[in-house]
Amino acid sequence: MRTPIIAGNWKLNKTIAEATALVREMRRELNEIEGVEKVLCPPFTALSAVAELIQATKIKLGAQDMHWEEKGAYTGAISPLMLKELCQYVIIGHSERRQYFGETDEGVNRKVKAALQHGLAPIICVGENLQQNEAGQTKAWVSGQVRAALRDLTAEQVRGLVIAYEPIWAIGTGKPATGAGANAIIGLVIRGTVASMFNESIAQALRIQYGGSVNPDNIAEFMTQPDIHGALVGGASLVAAKFVSITRQAAEIKGTHR
Ligand code: PGA
Repeated sequence: MRTPIIAGNWKLNKTIAEATALVREMRRELNEIEGVEKVLCPPFTALSAVAELIQATKIKLGAQDMHWEEKGAYTGAISPLMLKELCQYVIIGHSERRQYFGETDEGVNRKVKAALQHGLAPIICVGENLQQNEAGQTKAWVSGQVRAALRDLTAEQVRGLVIAYEPIWAIGTGKPATGAGANAIIGLVIRGTVASMFNESIAQALRIQYGGSVNPDNIAEFMTQPDIHGALVGGASLVAAKFVSITRQAAEIKGTHR
């Protein structure tokens, strides 16, 4: 049985004071929701303050990126050693990192390996852009990203990983994928690729989120799909009532649709 996972990706938003206010606003209600893993991913500067605020809760903390090196002359970078004092999760390979910061498939793979070596659970992001989608290249592209991200990992490392399928054309656009469309890519392409690299039981153990314009009005459409076990939420995770509603609906739906 896979526990669904709802993660809030705050991106480049929230000062420490703002982050503190947002967490205080949703902490109690969010913590009371059972049967779903709840993860907040604030910017690096707010990790420590948020960690303290959620210490006595079941809410988990994630970073939005990290470097693969433990330490050294890498100005501006954050290492797995630094994160593991604070976080349980780390988002790796978000399309905005790939698009604006030159992140490559090879870098994603190095980061995934480093996270796992340090006991951080990666949330690995994959997804095609609009041109690729319209040119019918989605399957090949997403499958290639999954293969590259998981290269040289052991079966044990892959079992239970979290992958987020985020079509780039759906991120921040208010135009989400359809539930059935996302489920097809997640089930056939992402699980299919993992099954061919490892085996069917490992593919089935994965938790795969959908991300891209998720909000309280459309979360049900995704969570009722058999292959979708959570969501990576951007904009709507910055509004306490919306993030709580999304998480609550995910818990209610996956309680009946496994
Ligand atoms: P969005 O972002 O929910 O604002 O579309 C999702 C993401 O990029 O993780």
